[in-house]
Amino acid sequence: MDDDTDPWTVSAAAFPGDGPREAQVEFLLRYAILAPSSHNSQPWRFSIDEGSVDVYADEARWLPVADADRREWYVSVGCALENLLVAAERFGFEHDVTYFPSDDESHVAHVVLSPGGSRSPHRGGLFDALTARSTNHGPYYGSVSTETLDAFESAVTDPDLWVRFVEATETRERIGSLITHADRRQFEDPEYRRELGEWIGNGALATSWVKAKLGQLAVTHLDLGDRQAATDSVLVESAPVVVVLGADADTPSARVRVGQTFERLALLATTEGLSVHPMSQVLELPDLRAELTETLDVEGSVLHLFRLGYADPDGGHSSRRPLPAVLD
Ligand SMILES: Cc1cc2nc3c(=O)[nH]c(=O)nc-3n(C[C@H](O)[C@H](O)[C@H](O)COP(=O)(O)O)c2cc1C
Repeated sequence: MDDDTDPWTVSAAAFPGDGPREAQVEFLLRYAILAPSSHNSQPWRFSIDEGSVDVYADEARWLPVADADRREWYVSVGCALENLLVAAERFGFEHDVTYFPSDDESHVAHVVLSPGGSRSPHRGGLFDALTARSTNHGPYYGSVSTETLDAFESAVTDPDLWVRFVEATETRERIGSLITHADRRQFEDPEYRRELGEWIGNGALATSWVKAKLGQLAVTHLDLGDRQAATDSVLVESAPVVVVLGADADTPSARVRVGQTFERLALLATTEGLSVHPMSQVLELPDLRAELTETLDVEGSVLHLFRLGYADPDGGHSSRRPLPAVLD
């Protein structure tokens, strides 16, 4: 495979239908790596053995400051796993996933892929969205219909997980205010700014070299807390819906499955012409996360939160590491 090929240009027509199973499985992984991830850290690794894939979380790409409890590390890998399964179903593979198959906490899943599968109702229509999806950071508008929210609710098929759609203005304002607090606290922390600056600086979060370097300078050397906080609270309050995903028990497996569910909803949103934008800052600070749980009046653990709404196009795709860089 050519390392210079933009991973986003992958096309179904290139599936090696007559090739060996291992080449087919490798092709499916070209869709897995298009998944969203915290800071675009892409913290995944894959190891193929004929018809099976072992999925790992990459310790070197964990964000120890922003993601001290590793929640987003696992959620991000869950997003990649969901992309793999959507692609597998598209090309007729049955899949069998074992979560955390060994004692290794980074060994997220063992996936057996065998021919003869059919498309499931909740993944069947999502394949084209794999290459179309992106996070939209702009203002959202409009209202999301009850039918669409019902379709979202039906796509949350995991019995251990729950979803809440926050539409009430008062609750969205309260979440906006928690986000403002979280932004201020994080930008006051030099370690947080340094970590974010590193990821912006290596091009993960920006589209051009210049933008990346300017971003690093600004985040590392200026206190951007107030500016970011004002933007984020306006963004969340203007979005018609804030979607919250959680689990009765916060376990590594639940985090991975929340990632899968989030990605499924993000792909569904893409097919519906809707945009999503995860906002993790409140969940990254334990005391604010507890306040959020109280505000939402939910049982169990809040594991992911994102804005949902209609938005204008926002700059296209972020960069991806090529597949060979994440294959063992
Ligand atoms: C677990 C997780 C947490 C995220 N948290 C945030 C966040 O707090 N703020 C934000 O702007 N984007 C957040 N994102 C979106 C990522 O920044 C985005 O997925 C990444 O930059 C890749 O871009 P793409 O989604 O457009 O492909 C998050 C994504 C994931 C999967």
